[in-house]
Amino acid sequence: MRTELSFAPISGIATELLAVLAADTQTAKGPEAKPQPTLLTTDAAVQAAAAGVLESGEYKAGANETVLIHAPAGLEAKRLLIVGLGMLAKATVHSVREAAGTAVRFAKPRGIRELTLVLPENLSENLPHAVVPAGGVFAAGVFPAGVARAAVEGALVGDFDADTYRSERKDQSIQSLTIAAAADADRPAIEAGVREGVIVGESQNFARSLVNEPGNKLTPTILGQRAALMAQEVGLGWDVYSTEMLHHLKMGAFWSVAQGSAEPPALIVLRYEPEGVIEGTVLHPSDEDLSLGVPVLGLVGKGITFDTGGISIKPADNMEKMKYDMAGGAAMMGAMRAIALVKPRVRVIAIVCAAENMPSGTAQKPGDVQTAMPIAPDKPGKTIEIINTDAEGRLVLADGITYARQLGATHLIDAATLTSAISVALGRTTAGVFSNDDATYAKFEAALAVSGEKFWRLPLGEEYAELIKSDIGDIKNTGGRWGGASLAAEFLHTFAEDTPWIHLDIAGVAWVEESRPYIAKGPSGIAVRSILEWVRSY
Ligand code: BES
Ligand code: MN
Ligand code: ZN
Repeated sequence: MRTELSFAPISGIATELLAVLAADTQTAKGPEAKPQPTLLTTDAAVQAAAAGVLESGEYKAGANETVLIHAPAGLEAKRLLIVGLGMLAKATVHSVREAAGTAVRFAKPRGIRELTLVLPENLSENLPHAVVPAGGVFAAGVFPAGVARAAVEGALVGDFDADTYRSERKDQSIQSLTIAAAADADRPAIEAGVREGVIVGESQNFARSLVNEPGNKLTPTILGQRAALMAQEVGLGWDVYSTEMLHHLKMGAFWSVAQGSAEPPALIVLRYEPEGVIEGTVLHPSDEDLSLGVPVLGLVGKGITFDTGGISIKPADNMEKMKYDMAGGAAMMGAMRAIALVKPRVRVIAIVCAAENMPSGTAQKPGDVQTAMPIAPDKPGKTIEIINTDAEGRLVLADGITYARQLGATHLIDAATLTSAISVALGRTTAGVFSNDDATYAKFEAALAVSGEKFWRLPLGEEYAELIKSDIGDIKNTGGRWGGASLAAEFLHTFAEDTPWIHLDIAGVAWVEESRPYIAKGPSGIAVRSILEWVRSY
């Protein structure tokens, strides 16, 4: 998808589809209440072309509600599409992101390959009854760069479909998107917003394309190759290791999962070093850097390219979905791509622990005891009693977290499709977040306002730690039926120790089960945007 910017009069733009936004500006409550759909553009010709349908009462400007007008009078556009944001008072930047996705997904199946999206103008002063909240679409500091960015992100995310391997695949991708803004708009801000939107939207789609690949097409080795290729394209440092390095680093927990598969594991390391800002290298921050408190952010992703459960094998129903068990790793790769292009002034390293979880003659067994990677060569690694070989994500992450700390990470974030319990707790639209440090969590929470992604914090704690104590070793990999997401998080906490750390359990939201107006069924690309914003906050 090519993206262009236009500050020309909207009525004069020749385009297959002109998409404009509308919001419901009603303020009356009770029996008097009546939707008041209002266009968020001052262009008189667009106003006139839309007047009939807005007055008809047929269209209410609900969130992602659309109405199409063919051959709109007075416009060069062939079609005028109105996309709703819902109540203006409740609309956020994320409503614009979704609306842009809705416009693109409206165009795709209709054979429309080119469209123009009109950015909303801040009409709040002209709307006598509109109450605009501080965090809303028109909030200071967000508008207009944030709106432009969100619109482009939404359009790119909306353009993605998961049918890569259909032999008669009709490629309905949008070839060209024009973002149209008013002539008196803040051009540098909008240009910057569009530029960033392209980076973020493409990075999220990069993660989604990886998650979408089936297990036979994306083995740990191939995931490693994709990471290396991406790193070369955007200028990240990288290393991809395999079995020998796992043994060398004494990654007994990671290897215990990998040992059951004929496919070798991949230990993927990506490094981002800000230019001319901080001396030294990411891998070896100087003691001075560390004493100055220069942060090194460590991103750790679960990269299980297929999870059969291992010897504690999963039931057949829905097992095919376990190709998306590397969504946390893909999110880290997508975030690193965006980081390399957005260039925040902070060092970042990402570790993706990729393996297949298979049952075989070499697979680990329930009851086995594994020794995790030691935090320092002269210290012993923690011993883990394997109760269930299907609780494999926490095993690979344990060593990934230790490795990130050993490489000098001062702050950690991990992402994993870790537990089905998280879907029981939060459902299929909100992901779980856990943290051992309120200040670090606060930065993540602030990032969510920009990313528009939904996360909800859940507890860690000593009570959970009690439940995963082992009789034979230090810790066991499951702790019973209740509070499964917190038990898994507490397991990881044992390895993060007191390094400020955030854990994202994305198992419930990494796969969109039913198409929505603004996003296709399939991989969601969750967490790429939030991780990027969290990183930028340093
Ligand atoms: N990859 C799964 C979690 C998962 C389930 C992700 C459904 C996406 C959709 C994970 O490895 C797993 O199997 N977890 C077990 C843990 C249990 C054995 C303690 C689970 O949640 O059932
Ligand atoms: Mn599993
Ligand atoms: Zn898994």
